[in-house]
Formats: sequence, C-alpha cells, structure tokens
Amino acid sequence: MNINLIPVASAAGTEAMSGATAVVFDVLRASSTIVTALSSGYRMVYPVVNVEEAVQIARERGFCLAGERGGQKIPGFPMGNSPLEFSTGPVAGADILVLTTSNGTAAIRKASTAEKVLIGSIINARAVARTAISEGRDIALICAGSDGLYALEDILGAGFVLMEIVATANSVPAMDDQALTALCLARYYQQDPLAGLMEANHGKKLLGLGLKSDLRWCSRLNLYDTVPIFAGNYIKGS
Ligand code: MLT
Repeated sequence: MNINLIPVASAAGTEAMSGATAVVFDVLRASSTIVTALSSGYRMVYPVVNVEEAVQIARERGFCLAGERGGQKIPGFPMGNSPLEFSTGPVAGADILVLTTSNGTAAIRKASTAEKVLIGSIINARAVARTAISEGRDIALICAGSDGLYALEDILGAGFVLMEIVATANSVPAMDDQALTALCLARYYQQDPLAGLMEANHGKKLLGLGLKSDLRWCSRLNLYDTVPIFAGNYIKGS
C-alpha cells in the first residue's frame, strides 16, 4: 500500500487516482458537513459544482437545498454549509441534501476517477483510516484547498487520518513526502486540533464571520464512525 497526498484538488490528475482509494478532505467545511449530515439522519448527499444546477436538482427531485460561497450561505438558499445546521437531522422529511460549496463539492467530483471515493475529515478520521486500509489499494489523499490554494486545514485532516492508519497498521506505510508532512503536522496539533484550524487562513476567515462554533465542531477528533462513500452522483454513509 502506497500513500500519496495531492495538496490541492485542482492538481489532481487521473493517474494519481487510477486504481486507488481516494479520500477527499475539505475540513472547513464540506467534508465535515457531509459526515455530520449522514451521521444525523440524512440518507444521501448529492454534491454539485454550480449554484444553478443545485437549485434545479433540488426543485426537480424535492431534495433539501444547501450551499455556501465565500464562507456564507448562498442568498435564497434554505441552508448553508455549517455542519451544525445538519447535526439535528432532516427537516420536514427532506432527507436527501443537494450541496454546493466553494471548494469541497468540486474536489469530490474531481476524485470520481478513483476506484473508490471516501470523504475524510477530523471528525471521522479513524473510521476512514480503517476503511481505506481494508480496501487494500494504494491511497490518494485529495485535499480540496481553498480557491485553488493550499489549505492547512485539509492537510491537517489528512494528517489525522494518516495517524490513524499508522496506529491501525502498527507501522508507517510507504508514503510520499507530502503525506509525511501532513502526518508531522497532525502530530504537532494532536493535543489541540482546534488550534490548527484557528491558525489556518480559512479558519481565520470563518472566525471573522463569527463561526468559531463551526471550527470547534470540525476539530472534534473521531466524533463519528460514519464513512461517506461517493458513487454515481450520490454520497452515502457506511
Ligand atoms: C467549502 O467548500 O467547504 C468551502 O471551502 C468553504 C466553507 O464552507 O467555508
């Protein structure tokens, strides 16, 4: 099992994912939101890249519409991209989410050429690590990034999954230096994951929007055992 890390999804080529198990990270906040929703009674999530398509699908299929741009709820949308909005379960029976976000949903779709696509975060790190190992393939850690740039929080999320892979395998598997860097970053913040999220540039932006409760939620290591799997057009929890 070889592990490589792609620091920004826009740099993810099909060769890196061919035959591999991909784990997609957008810790602040799409992957944390997806894990929380599927752990709280939502049945599936339909990730969409652009706003107009999300509105059309939600209207045609009666799904619950949710989305973010610039860290804030899209005007006119009933729900945004704060994981806390989804932690209390579906409203009015709409248990399938259509979700469009600035970075995370595009990164998930970008990973679709992999053999299997898992959604990773800090809040489901151990469960994702165990599933990725059980798949028995090479692992590609896909970090969404933010607006095409390297995002510390995504590298940190990948690092926590790597820590769990090392603990589960009781050895340090072969990995590239980008993955090794993520592992070292997680070891640095392992006593206080929230500190890492608060130092990240996007974390600071969310703090400026008054969303510290989102950062606190996204930092709760191994909160859930849900492993979201993206297949076809839908993300389902396992
Ligand atoms: C996302 O796609 O999750 C975005 O990167 C940012 C956010 O929701 O604040």
